[in-house]
Amino acid sequence: MLVLQNVEKRYGDFTALQAIDLEFKQGIYGLLSPNGAGKTTLIKMLVTLIQPTNGQILYNGKPIEVLGESYRELIGYLPQQFGYYKHYTPAKYLTYLAALKGMNKKEVKQRIDDVLEKVALTEVKHKKMRKFSGGMIQRVGIAQALLNDPKILILDEPTAGLDPKERARFRHLLSDLARNRTVIISTHIVSDIESIANEIIMIKNQELLYKSPVTDICQTLEGKVFETSLSFDHLPSFRETYLTLQEKQEHGKMLVRFVANKPIDPSWNAVHPQLEDVFLAEYENESTIGR
Ligand SMILES: Nc1ncnc2c1ncn2[C@@H]1O[C@H](COP(=O)(O)OP(=O)(O)OP(=O)(O)O)[C@@H](O)[C@H]1O
Ligand SMILES: [Mg+2]
Repeated sequence: MLVLQNVEKRYGDFTALQAIDLEFKQGIYGLLSPNGAGKTTLIKMLVTLIQPTNGQILYNGKPIEVLGESYRELIGYLPQQFGYYKHYTPAKYLTYLAALKGMNKKEVKQRIDDVLEKVALTEVKHKKMRKFSGGMIQRVGIAQALLNDPKILILDEPTAGLDPKERARFRHLLSDLARNRTVIISTHIVSDIESIANEIIMIKNQELLYKSPVTDICQTLEGKVFETSLSFDHLPSFRETYLTLQEKQEHGKMLVRFVANKPIDPSWNAVHPQLEDVFLAEYENESTIGR
């Protein structure tokens, strides 16, 4: 089990994260926050690329920096910006990375075939990556993270640049991979993880806001999300009073989904909160966090 205890990360005078307590067991953890909230900072600490300024990260009770290489061998990591060589084929690229990782040559070929099979790239394994779609490249990225059959798979915004179909395929793949692993995936797109994550981790103002299953997080807005139909003229003043979550035109009026502390108008329909509602409500004033 991977545990963070009171972890803080400062860059000079700037505190990026503080008072972070987390526990990761098996399953999918979705790290969901807007840009600049500290997702990559958290992930880089988990993969030992940077060290916490304070606090500690333990794997099975031992500090990960003490475990060193024996901890890193358990990790598969897809960085937010992942470098690949477009003139390489997936097979050649993975062979090269396996050599860098010092993997046993005899086992490498079979292992590469296995991981390419897992990410459904077997048919193109000898094709140059130059012409691959964004989804295919991301799957190559996952394949490289899987090379050492990691117990902990950490993916930093793996769905960036994917189309909806590729996103759906990606979710299926992650569910498969999470069967006997810890999978930690960061994103700022709610639908990427809403249906697959066992727990959602949200960071706000440099601190942990939630670490709970989707239903528990949605519960925080229960009884406070409504929908109603408004004329266009009333919309501006309505927006000043209530936080609107969605606005769409319908039959010449506006159908508005919004947050209110209690039902006031009989024409309002109470609806069940979704994760997207909580996300929008929590981060309402921040298009980007940070400095
Ligand atoms: N090396 C660094 N030096 C100084 N500040 C940094 C450094 N790395 C990150 N930061 C700052 O720390 C904060 C968190 O950045 P981080 O990259 O962890 O966020 P993120 O959630 O991954 O964002 P994004 O969604 O854009 O990838 C930001 O305000 C960022 O500017
Ligand atoms: Mg990031």
